[in-house]
Amino acid sequence: MTLRGKVALVTGAGRHQGLGKAICARLAMAGCRIALTDLAVPQALMEAKNIGTRAEMDEVAEELSAIGPEVIALPMDVRDEAQIEATIAAVVAKFGRLDILINNAGIGYLFSPITDTPAEFWRAVMDVNLMGPFLCTKHAARQMNRQGSGGRIINIASQAAKSGHPHLAAYIASKHGLVGLTRTAALELGSQGITVNAVCPNHVTTGLGSVQNEYYAKLRGVSVERYLADMTAGIPMGRVGLPEDTANACVFLCSDQAAYITGEAMNVSGGAEMH
Ligand SMILES: NC(=O)c1ccc[n+]([C@@H]2O[C@H](COP(=O)([O-])OP(=O)(O)OC[C@H]3O[C@@H](n4cnc5c(N)ncnc54)[C@H](O)[C@@H]3O)[C@@H](O)[C@H]2O)c1
Repeated sequence: MTLRGKVALVTGAGRHQGLGKAICARLAMAGCRIALTDLAVPQALMEAKNIGTRAEMDEVAEELSAIGPEVIALPMDVRDEAQIEATIAAVVAKFGRLDILINNAGIGYLFSPITDTPAEFWRAVMDVNLMGPFLCTKHAARQMNRQGSGGRIINIASQAAKSGHPHLAAYIASKHGLVGLTRTAALELGSQGITVNAVCPNHVTTGLGSVQNEYYAKLRGVSVERYLADMTAGIPMGRVGLPEDTANACVFLCSDQAAYITGEAMNVSGGAEMH
C-alpha cells in the first residue's frame, strides 16, 4: 500500500511509547510526509498527567525522519481552535497540502466511580477526547475541500467506544461519542471524497495503557502481571494489542484500497470486541 505524495497530520504523537508514534512510523513507511503534533509541554508539567514534552516530541520526530519522507514536529493543543488553524496553515505552507488527519490525542488517566467524579474530570476528558477531534476534523476537512481531491480522517476511538468499563465514565462516553462524530462526518464529507472512520483498539500497553493497568491491578488487589495475564486469557488471539496493530489498520484505511469504506468503527482487538 503506497501513500507516496500524501501529507498526514497526526495528533498526540510525540511520545516514545504511544500509538501516535507507531501510526506515524507506518505512514512514513508507506511514503507519507508527516506533521507530528503533540501538547509539547515543559518538562515540569508532564509528570502527573502523562502528557508529552517538547523534548520528547522532537526526539520522536528525529527518529521517524530516519524512515524516509519528511517529518515535521509542531506543538498543538487539540482543545485550542486557533492553534489547530495555525498548525494546518503551517503544514500547508510546508508541504503544500493535507490529505490525512489522524485524531489520536486522548487522555485516560482520570479514574473515579461516577458517584465521586467531579464535573471538572468530565469536562477535561471531553475537551481532549471529543471536542479535540471535532475541531481538528472541522479545519482539516475545510482544507481538504479547498484542495478538491478528497481525503482521509481517522479517529482513534477504543474498545471503550463499544462497551462500558468501571471508573472511566467520561472516557467511555467520549469514545462512544467519537463514533457518533465519525458517522456524522462520514455522511457530511462523503460527497467530497473524504472518508471518515474510527479505529477501536483493545488494550495496548502504551503510556496511557500502563497507567490503566496500574490502577485496575491495585483496585483488584493483584499484581500488574496477574492483571495482564487475566486480561490476555479473555482475548481470542491470546495477546494484548500492539501499537503496530492499530497503525496497520490506519494505513489500510488511508489507502486507495479502502476508498469505499466510511463511517465504520473498526475493532482492532484480537477478537476481544466483536460488535
Ligand atoms: N493504550 C490503549 O490501551 C488504548 C486503547 C484504545 C484506544 N487508545 C487511544 O489511543 C490514543 C493514543 O493513546 P496512547 O495509548 O498512545 O496513550 P499516550 O498517553 O501515549 O498518548 C496520548 C497522547 O495525547 C497527547 N495529548 C494529551 N492531551 C493533549 C492535548 N490537549 N492536545 C494534544 N495532545 C494531547 C499526550 O501528550 C500523548 O502524547 C488515545 O486516544 C487513546 O484513548 C489507547
